[in-house]
Amino acid sequence: MPYAHITGWGMSVPEPVLTNDDISKMVETNDEWIRERTGIRERRIARASDFPSTLAVEASFKALEVAGLAPGELDLIICSTSTPEYLFPATACLIQDQLGATKAGAFDLLAACTGFIFAMNMAAQSIRSGAIKNALVIGTETLSRFVNWQDRGTCILFGDGAGAFVLQARDIPGGVLSAVMHSDGSGGDLLSLPGGGSRYPATEATVREGKHLIQMDGKGVFRFATKVMASATEEALQLAGLKKEDIRWIVPHQANSRIIEAAARGLKLPMERFIVNLERFGNTSTASIPIATVEAIEKGRFAPGDKIVFVGFGGGLTWGALVAEWTGPSAGPHKIHPRRQRLWARIRSIFHRLERFLEGVIWGRRA
Ligand code: UT7
Repeated sequence: MPYAHITGWGMSVPEPVLTNDDISKMVETNDEWIRERTGIRERRIARASDFPSTLAVEASFKALEVAGLAPGELDLIICSTSTPEYLFPATACLIQDQLGATKAGAFDLLAACTGFIFAMNMAAQSIRSGAIKNALVIGTETLSRFVNWQDRGTCILFGDGAGAFVLQARDIPGGVLSAVMHSDGSGGDLLSLPGGGSRYPATEATVREGKHLIQMDGKGVFRFATKVMASATEEALQLAGLKKEDIRWIVPHQANSRIIEAAARGLKLPMERFIVNLERFGNTSTASIPIATVEAIEKGRFAPGDKIVFVGFGGGLTWGALVAEWTGPSAGPHKIHPRRQRLWARIRSIFHRLERFLEGVIWGRRA
């Protein structure tokens, strides 16, 4: 049975920075309160030209470069996002087209902030079963487009960004060792975005009522998060046959430093074992785990053989954890040239559109 190794990683965040001081000019809050209650100092906000797919494509090319894998070799693309560009087509398909990943099946997965863990597990299981060899797992969000900038309870938290991992089949043991996934829909109302779906299709009234904006019971989510972070971690470790002492790093969902501290207390592990970068990016939902991972790798923190736990929670409610043995760089045979590859993907895309247009004309004449 093949093992699912993490062989590539990349991240992309928009350039514009929104500081706590900037937010204090929009709502009644201040830098001290936000830092003390959340640990966040600033977050990145998408420009008009940034979309979940464009951020994801940048992160994905970086991940493919690290893995030395050409987009055409991908079998599967899973895009985890709660801020898709459209209800359909899936954002994953927009990414597939922009990458030129001609062989890949692509779909979106919505499990809010836990999505990246669920997506990694799905990709790893597909590899472990022998069905596929190469998968791209993406977490990407432009939450700023759905934030109520008049609600100080939510607008201080969220930021935009994307992260991507390449998972590949290898014969040597390692990679994803175990994962647990949980949901409890009875708590769906704690964190939701009710408008724009088929229960509340967009109308003037839904917009007036703010149904297209994030609604959150902060305290309720906080309580839930502090309960499940440690239990999910322990469960995934048990499934992998590992003990807490075997774990080198924990990469938690970056929501609030107090939630991460509570998880550390629950697990009786020192905070030094936790990767935390929410100070500069805020809560980027499903993108937060891969973004924190990429930064940790760039700082040289992960070494081959390290056992790592990725653990998250979020709307749904959803929560889960995944244990992996770090593989380290193991670049494949291909040198990736993102600019060239991107141009090639664009030409291919235009060609296919033209082909479909001409087909339409020919069919029209026949009819
Ligand atoms: O990916 C999952 C996403 N969601 C989360 O992770 C959310 C988890 N929850 C949290 O992070 C926290 O609940 C918040 C940061 C959202 C809020 O912190 P809190 O310690 O739970 O504050 P609170 O809602 O209990 O409010 C305490 C006080 C209230 O004032 P009073 O009623 O005690 O006078 C709030 O009105 O703080 C006030 N407050 C603020 N003050 C200054 C709430 N938000 C702010 C603010 N600035 N931004």
